[in-house]
Amino acid sequence: MQLRTTSSHSTAPSWLSTLSTLLLLIALPIRAIELDIDNDDSIKNAAKQIAKGLTSYYTGHRPGDTPGNLPAPYYWWEAGAMFGALIDYWSYTGDDSYNAITTQGMIHQASEDRNFMPPNQTKAEGNDDQGFWGMAAMSAAERNFPNPPPEQPQWLALVQATFNSQAARWDSATCGGGLKWQIFRFNNGFNYKNTISNGCFFNMAARLATYTNNGTYAEWAEKTWDWSRQVGLISPDFHFFDGTDDTTNCSNLNRIQWTYNAGVYLLGAAHMFHHSEGPAKEKWKARVQGIIDGMGLFFFENTNIMYEVACENRGTCELDQRSFKAYLARWMAATTQVAPFTSDQLMPKLRASAQAAAKACTGGSDGTKCPLKWTTGKFEGETGVGEQMAALEVIQSTLIKSAPPPVTDDNGGTSKGDPSGGFEKGNETPAILKKEITAGDKAGAGILTAVVIMGIIAAPYWLIFA
Ligand SMILES: *[C@@H]1O[C@H](CO)[C@@H](O)[C@H](O)[C@H]1NC(C)=O
Ligand SMILES: *[C@@H]1O[C@H](CO)[C@@H](O)[C@H](O)[C@H]1NC(C)=O
Ligand SMILES: *[C@@H]1O[C@H](CO)[C@@H](O)[C@H](O)[C@H]1NC(C)=O
Repeated sequence: MQLRTTSSHSTAPSWLSTLSTLLLLIALPIRAIELDIDNDDSIKNAAKQIAKGLTSYYTGHRPGDTPGNLPAPYYWWEAGAMFGALIDYWSYTGDDSYNAITTQGMIHQASEDRNFMPPNQTKAEGNDDQGFWGMAAMSAAERNFPNPPPEQPQWLALVQATFNSQAARWDSATCGGGLKWQIFRFNNGFNYKNTISNGCFFNMAARLATYTNNGTYAEWAEKTWDWSRQVGLISPDFHFFDGTDDTTNCSNLNRIQWTYNAGVYLLGAAHMFHHSEGPAKEKWKARVQGIIDGMGLFFFENTNIMYEVACENRGTCELDQRSFKAYLARWMAATTQVAPFTSDQLMPKLRASAQAAAKACTGGSDGTKCPLKWTTGKFEGETGVGEQMAALEVIQSTLIKSAPPPVTDDNGGTSKGDPSGGFEKGNETPAILKKEITAGDKAGAGILTAVVIMGIIAAPYWLIFA
């Protein structure tokens, strides 16, 4: 990245250039992320500036702080999401500056049962929160991120244990199956079966099928897709609605559409396409294509620039929601590796969005902080972890064409697995917490609390069909 003031090679007298420099200094912001989308070094350089901004929010590695936690107001899950972004960052750019804090944070939060269920999070942890950490571990295995010492939890084993504890929670008591949003009855949202929780489980199952070639994971992925489709969380034209209430046997839907729900199923479906053979492969190919065809609403008018249609233009995106575009970008890029037929369709969208994001990242005192909105061509609004992560993901995703495809057990993977981890203890509440929890403790859980508090609402027409 360069200062704009130094990038012009003026032949004017030096007093004039000094004067114009001063004028430019007054007209803040003076910096911008320079990005030549056809030059990998330029993309890496831009990603480096933004990654620095992202990690500047993180304090967990400091003495006395808790590794793996972002400072308030950010929830625990978003740190897991951030480490997922930093694993891809290392893999795509080769810059290992953040590997140490990533490993430290993930190992600290791995928990005693090695399935990302740390007791400190019991009052708020949902299946989706656990899933974001599990998916970060999956990325570490797929990208051959340096393995922790042998006595420590291993990436693949962490995903398998996360998967196993969630498979044990599959709830056939209502709605013909599905995962509830919440793990524990005492947390708000226990009656909600939401798309992101089931989507994270589907995503991990499909990627584990590719990585291990164990058909049990593929069967769970099939089952989760079929259930999501059956209750209508996936519509016939591949729109992904937020969730449904199991007290009405999932007969009503909350039809808000978020970028990350489409994304989490997109990558899972792409892995199922990759993993399958014969007619099943055709079936999954059609589903991948269907999701891409249904994703149009997340790109602003005909600019190919990604936006959070449910809240961005109205300025109502909440803290968690400000990060969702990060994951759609991440999973679109990863999809092009396992389902290469999607590349010509997805890359123009990622490239246009990356260029737009780079133009908007001129905020903060260092002039490289990113806003939520990329569609206006300039910095506008607030900065934060979600905004910064989304810009990082969309910019680094344009390096995917030069990145090696994900490794597997049979093909370069080095992470040690444990197919039996995490099963028995998936649902247990630590005794000490059972005592502590009172009605007053029902803190808002990780993701999308507000949506659930609003209940199953009828969304405006444009949110559903825009
Ligand atoms: C749980 O909280 C305690 C007290 O703040 C802290 O020392 C510990 O590191 C935390 N553990 C995890 C896994 O976050
Ligand atoms: C609840 O929903 C499931 C899935 O749609 C359906 O199979 C089941 O019959 C329903 N149960 C009742 C009691 O309506
Ligand atoms: C396949 O995965 C299932 C589910 O975790 C596990 O029970 C089984 O042992 C695995 N099989 C092999 C051969 O690893």
